[in-house]
Amino acid sequence: MDPEKEEFLEEFGADYGYPSGPKSIDQIRATEFKRLDGLVYLDHAGSTLYSELQMEAVFRDLTTNVYGNPHSQSDSSSATCEIVREARQQVLEYFNASPKDYKCIFTSGASAALKLVGEAFPWSQKSCFMYTMENHNSVLGIREYALSQGAAAFAVDIEETVHHEVSNGIAASVSLSQHQIQRRNEEKVLEEELIGDAYNLFAFPSECNFSGLRFSLDLVKIIKEDSEKILEGSPFCNGRWMVLVDAAKGCATEPPDLSKYPADFVIISFYKIFGYPTGLGALIARNDAAKLLKKTYFSGGTVAASISDIDFVKRREGIEELFEDGTASFLSIASIRHGFKILNSLTISAIGRHTAALATYLRKMLLALRHENGASVCKVYKSDSLKVLCREWGPIVSFNLKRPDGSWFGYREVEKLSSLSGIQLRTGCFCNPGACAKYLGLSHLDLRSNMEAGHVCWDDYDILNGKPTGAVRVSFGYMSSYEDAKKFIDFVKSSFVSLPNQTGLGYHLRERSIPFPDKGLESRFTSSFFLKSITIYPIKSCAGFSTEKWPLSISGLRYDHEWLLKSLTGEILTQKKLPEMCLISTFIDLHWGIMFVESPRCKEGLQINLKSDLKSGGREEVDLYGQRYEAQGYTNEVNNWFSLAIGRTCCLLRYSMSNDYLLLNKCKNGGMRRDMQSRVTFANEAQFLLISEESVSDLNNRISSNVQKGAFEMPVQINPMRFRPNLVISGGEPYVEDEWRNLKIGNKYFTSLGGCNRCQMINVVHTAGGVQKSNEPLATLASYRRSKGKILFGILLRLHETDYEVEQETDSWLQVGQEVHPNSF
Ligand SMILES: Cc1ncc(COP(=O)(O)O)c(C=O)c1O
Repeated sequence: MDPEKEEFLEEFGADYGYPSGPKSIDQIRATEFKRLDGLVYLDHAGSTLYSELQMEAVFRDLTTNVYGNPHSQSDSSSATCEIVREARQQVLEYFNASPKDYKCIFTSGASAALKLVGEAFPWSQKSCFMYTMENHNSVLGIREYALSQGAAAFAVDIEETVHHEVSNGIAASVSLSQHQIQRRNEEKVLEEELIGDAYNLFAFPSECNFSGLRFSLDLVKIIKEDSEKILEGSPFCNGRWMVLVDAAKGCATEPPDLSKYPADFVIISFYKIFGYPTGLGALIARNDAAKLLKKTYFSGGTVAASISDIDFVKRREGIEELFEDGTASFLSIASIRHGFKILNSLTISAIGRHTAALATYLRKMLLALRHENGASVCKVYKSDSLKVLCREWGPIVSFNLKRPDGSWFGYREVEKLSSLSGIQLRTGCFCNPGACAKYLGLSHLDLRSNMEAGHVCWDDYDILNGKPTGAVRVSFGYMSSYEDAKKFIDFVKSSFVSLPNQTGLGYHLRERSIPFPDKGLESRFTSSFFLKSITIYPIKSCAGFSTEKWPLSISGLRYDHEWLLKSLTGEILTQKKLPEMCLISTFIDLHWGIMFVESPRCKEGLQINLKSDLKSGGREEVDLYGQRYEAQGYTNEVNNWFSLAIGRTCCLLRYSMSNDYLLLNKCKNGGMRRDMQSRVTFANEAQFLLISEESVSDLNNRISSNVQKGAFEMPVQINPMRFRPNLVISGGEPYVEDEWRNLKIGNKYFTSLGGCNRCQMINVVHTAGGVQKSNEPLATLASYRRSKGKILFGILLRLHETDYEVEQETDSWLQVGQEVHPNSF
């Protein structure tokens, strides 16, 4: 056995791998998760995975039984009612909740359950919604109902646990630190008016989905029974407190025991527990708390009687019937027993120990990583000094990585590289803004300035003002293995930890290149460069065509990126989502003024007259990378042709030269660096993209040497056109272009805007059999061309200002064979 695994088992063997379960972790992986071969899935807090046996059982169940609508009276309907009844019971059992005290109300997910509580809670002006800073956005959303009905809301940090003796043992108490009170109504509520019998709600997660911190469930009793003391001095100390536990994350490995901790409301989503089904969650509500909820809407399923033309409705009496609008998702409900069966066979306590062993091991290994200069590599968001009322940590490890100089690696870079290594994880704020601000040390000022800089959830701004805006999250599920954790650690070591004499982390971009196997020394050291090819891509993301010479215009190569395809919903279509777009070929005949377009899906090609087409369709606005353009539309015939070619309804739009673009918001381009100083048509970043043939050869040599080292199975040779360059140059040493500040080609001058950031699009290859994706060349580029979170290859160019009159000039052409003179002005 691998000695590292041996060491791991020595420390964690009693907990890891289900030693006394019906199957070991290796057997579980080999028989129930065969599809994970070659993949490291580490996003179980996002959604855990269903077992293949579980799905076979679901399939058998649904294909052998007839389940009718539970609101009918037939036998098939009775079968459904019975299954739904059993499912409710099974959910209650999972939380050790007596059916005498609790009801299981099925919803479409955890968020829907939270919305239900927020909407129906008996808020009044005297009420208050109190919640821990660490809460999911779906919990924070309850604040809207509270505030809009005149109630107050505030966040709290749970600071200190005090254990004190009481007559029948030791009781825990807690000290809260209160954030500012939020109120929305204008009328001032007098403090004495607050004293009374209002209902208040306190919400906390059983496990924080950002850090894995598990809050003590003692909080349930403490808040319900001891609010007077805990909230002493606060106007809300006297009301009746109800407690909601968000168990969406926590219950996959440690469901709250409701016989010990009698929360009023507990919310869950089933895909977080056993992966399937999605679209199903539950609100587990104490009977007395549920009876206080005031539901406004009624529907089929929740109504006993109603009269259509007068204000009369009688609702159903049963708690579940009152809250489950319409027809419950009964086939999904029928499926959950197959998920519970797997958990029960392993036992939840063994699952808890297994996943905790992996998380503890990963934390320990990450914290031990050091750069060659001794600087630590990883900041794990787990504050040991926190005196919160927490018991332990769930199977989540959130962190950010640092360079040897202490600066941060952006989480997007970690995500991009991990995905190239077949590792799937989550990055960002995980919908938990309070925990994110707390752990990353972001003040309100930081958060506001980040938002002003254009940062929103989901975008690429991972570092702003030198601080991370989110983190990397690795989370384990019951089927995660030591090998998953180990592969992740090895990936971090090889991609982010600097070793003595190693320069692969992007500090020195111009690493010594690998010699060309078939070129002599002379050609390597020649200083002359020439233009090897010119390629025009008239339609964004479609194939381009190469030519011997081509005219320049004010926006670059004439007609380059002058058209794009837009979907009916307004989305700009690119190869990222529709790789088949690269199968659409284009060619422009300058003499006839015609663009010829062909597609393997269309029998006839299409011809677009470049002069007369401008009268054919209406004008439209296009928002692209933070800029708004006016564009020219086309006839239905043209749009239908493209819709057939890409298999999706779309329209063709042409950049309109007559209208200047408008800047929308300089940061709305998701972190993409776009040339804002010159006229750029629909290209992503700049007027021209230049690559060097020598750099491509060097890249190919590296890929081949990786093949020899056994890193890849098939030798891959990358054609320069994979990078969609406008200009390919030849001559000199690989990567010399990185250092060019300006250049002259023929008699035209260009400014370099720096390296071009590469994404997965270069991994898409167009073969005879269609479109294929692999890890190359991005994986190899990532190993030696990283700089400030980007993977750079090729340079972006702008036509020099003095050439802006090119529009009028007749001799403004680029021609293959022209000499290229770097740094010439
Ligand atoms: C702690 C927590 N609460 C609530 C939710 C919302 O769950 P759903 O998206 O299933 O409604 C999530 C989902 O990520 C979560 O992690």
